[in-house]
Amino acid sequence: MNVLISEIEIQKKVSEIGRRINADYEARKPILIAVLKGAFMFLADLLREIEIPVEVDFLSIHSYNGTESSGVVRITHDLSLNIENRDVILIEDIIDTGQTVSYILDNLRTRKPYSLAVCALLNKEARRVIEVPLTYVGFTIPSVFAVGYGLDHDNRYRNLKYIGVLDDK
Ligand code: IMP
Ligand code: MG
Repeated sequence: MNVLISEIEIQKKVSEIGRRINADYEARKPILIAVLKGAFMFLADLLREIEIPVEVDFLSIHSYNGTESSGVVRITHDLSLNIENRDVILIEDIIDTGQTVSYILDNLRTRKPYSLAVCALLNKEARRVIEVPLTYVGFTIPSVFAVGYGLDHDNRYRNLKYIGVLDDK
């Protein structure tokens, strides 16, 4: 395993994003929606940097088989909160082709949120096939398969404190 982004670098970046959200959403009460499973660790750390009142919700999707995007996305666990007229921040682990987040954004827009922003820890910009509006991005990374800090390969490696790249990928 090669370290791509260290634990310290992640911590610094997450607190920087948290401070930006505190400033941008001052006097508002956004709903942070984490896309499971990959974003759970990012959400947990980000939340602890947020000092404004927030609510949290989760969305589960099925979209990925092994290392290649299937392009087919299905919501397997839906929100429990009503997001109509609310400020929503979608929390994602990684944006690759952009297909998954585009599908989710289209779906959320039909529920008429007041605003909708995307916050992604990792961005594989060179792999994009659909344009995605990203408000908060942690790190832009090359077209490698990243694991750790919530991200998996066949459901392994989510527990790592850093972002790594598998040797044979
Ligand atoms: P997209 O639809 O191609 O943007 O794929 C997005 C989803 O694929 C992410 O939410 C991840 O779950 C998964 N994914 C894409 N690239 C990686 C990676 O490098 N490591 C782990 N998961 C990835
Ligand atoms: Mg994901």
